[in-house]
Amino acid sequence: MDLKSEILKLKEQKDVLILAHNYQLPEVQDVADYVGDSLGLSRQAAKTNHKTILFCGVHFMAETAAIVCPDKKVLIPDLAAGCSLADTINADQVRKWKSEHPNAVTVGYVNTSAEVKAELDYCCTSSNAVNVVKSIPVDKEVLFLPDMFLGSYVAKMTDRKNMYIWAGECHVHAGIKPQEVQEKLTQYADAEFLVHPECSCTSSIMYDVACGDYGNRQVQILSTEGMMNHAKSSNGKTFVVATETGILYKMRKQNPEKEFIPMSDAAICKYMKMITLDKVYLSLKAEKYEVKVPKNIAQKAHLAIERMLAIS
Ligand code: 13P
Ligand code: SF4
Repeated sequence: MDLKSEILKLKEQKDVLILAHNYQLPEVQDVADYVGDSLGLSRQAAKTNHKTILFCGVHFMAETAAIVCPDKKVLIPDLAAGCSLADTINADQVRKWKSEHPNAVTVGYVNTSAEVKAELDYCCTSSNAVNVVKSIPVDKEVLFLPDMFLGSYVAKMTDRKNMYIWAGECHVHAGIKPQEVQEKLTQYADAEFLVHPECSCTSSIMYDVACGDYGNRQVQILSTEGMMNHAKSSNGKTFVVATETGILYKMRKQNPEKEFIPMSDAAICKYMKMITLDKVYLSLKAEKYEVKVPKNIAQKAHLAIERMLAIS
C-alpha cells in the first residue's frame, strides 16, 4: 500500500486538515497541508473550516489546537508524544509561584500543558515572547515560565529587571554542547548562525557577539519559522542551524542552492519523531487519538492563547 496516497485520499474524504511542526519527519511533513512553528500552527488551527485537525507534533500543540477550536475534532497520531520542557512545571507549581508574587503578570511559553495555560495571563511562543513581555507595563513584575534560556533571552532583549524565570529547559536544546558551538564557530567562519532561543548557548553567544568576540559574525536568535524565513531571504550561502535537526529538511528543500549545517547532529526530539507515517495513516483511518481539554480548563487557557495570537 502506498501510504502517502492513502493518507491524501482519506484526508480529502474525511475533510481533515493535517498540520505538522517543523521538526516532524520528512515524510510526515510531505503529507501536511501546513508545516510551521508553534505560533503558525495555532493560527492555522484557529482559522480552519475543516471538521477535523490531525496534529503532527507534540501533545501540548494538539491541546492548543483543541482549545482554540472547541467545535472541531483534534487528533494526534501518538498520545505519548510529550515534551520534556512542558513537563518541568505543573499547575500546582504555577499557583504556588503566583501566590508568592500576587501582583505579577504570568507569561508562559506555549510549551506547557492546558492546566498550566489556564493559570497564565499571557501565553507566548519563541517568535513573539519578546513582544508579549514588551506589552506588559514596565512597573509590573513578570513571572516567565518554563524555559530559562528563552526567559533570559527575553529579559535581555526587553532590558527587564523585574522578571522572574522558571528553571525549566528542553533536553534537546539544552543538550547542544558549548564545545560543538565553539567548533562550528571556528570551522564555519563565513556562515550565518541561526540559533533557537531555547538553546543554552543563546545567552553566551549573545554576550560574546555583543563583546565583539566574533567580529562581524552573523548570529540570529529565531523561532523555527523565523529561521526558515531568514534562510530564504538572506543572501548568505552557508548557515549553521542550532535547533532540532528536523528543520533541515524543509530548509534544504526550499533553498537547494544554500548549505545548512546542524550545530549538533544529536539534537533530535524523540517525542517529535514518535509521529511516523504509519501512525498518521492509522490515526486518520480510525480517527484516533482525540485530544480533549475539559471545558473549565479550556475556557481559562483560551484567554491566554488569544492574547498570544493577537501579538506577533
Ligand atoms: P517553535 O515555536 O519555534 O516552533 O518551537 C517549538 C519547540 O518545541 C521548540 O523546541
Ligand atoms: Fe519539547 Fe524540546 Fe521536543 Fe521542542 S524539542 S517539543 S521543547 S522536548
